[in-house]
Amino acid sequence: MYVIAMISRKGGAGKTNLAVHLAACAEGKGVATGIVDLDPQGTATKWGMRRSDNELRSGAEVISAQPTSVPRLLEAARAAGAKLMILDTAPHADSIAVDAARVADFVLIPCRPAIADLEAIPASADIARLAKTPFAVVLNSVGAQGARENEARQELQRLGLDLAPTALGHRVAYADAMIPGEGVTEHRNGTQASAEIEELFTWLWAMVEGSTRRAVA
Ligand SMILES: Nc1ncnc2c1ncn2[C@@H]1O[C@H](COP(=O)(O)OP(=O)(O)O)[C@@H](O)[C@H]1O
Ligand SMILES: [Mg+2]
Repeated sequence: MYVIAMISRKGGAGKTNLAVHLAACAEGKGVATGIVDLDPQGTATKWGMRRSDNELRSGAEVISAQPTSVPRLLEAARAAGAKLMILDTAPHADSIAVDAARVADFVLIPCRPAIADLEAIPASADIARLAKTPFAVVLNSVGAQGARENEARQELQRLGLDLAPTALGHRVAYADAMIPGEGVTEHRNGTQASAEIEELFTWLWAMVEGSTRRAVA
């Protein structure tokens, strides 16, 4: 079982968006997946509740949890046959984020191509470094005009940070799919949103498999 933590010190960067759509995508590929929601706001938890009411969808259950119960929950998920657990964290909760990053095999840091997000990235990267967990930044909510994206890429490169090869566009499909507790790969397969989540998931899966193999070797 692999564990992926969504971390960013900036609220609204896209942690929950990544968590739910990647979880639904993983499920669709037969990877038994769960989400541990560590944000008291409970956006992922509410998505999970709508999902369990949605008769068309199964799996990708979401557990709302206190940080202290995470190791026990992960053990229980492993015993129950989960293959992927995604930790969704709250912004401005550094010690919780460090603990989440510590139990994770890989950390994803979503970042909008905007100055306020970019300014928060070094602090988010420090959380993953402190936890000694491999991590990458994912550009999220990128507009159709490319200028901001290119500037953001240059800034992240200047900071020496790894960037996921797939950026997520700013698309209403993400919020639309969440209404019935779905992921974009389920709600509107074949759209740009579903294609980019598929591509991101494929890359992420290769990264976690690679980093775990390195750790074992
Ligand atoms: N790629 C995107 N395109 C359009 N809207 C997005 C995208 N990513 C996130 N959002 C929206 O932005 C808001 C904040 O995103 P969210 O994932 O909840 O951030 P966080 O969990 O990091 O606080 C939500 O309303 C979400 O639906
Ligand atoms: Mg969130």
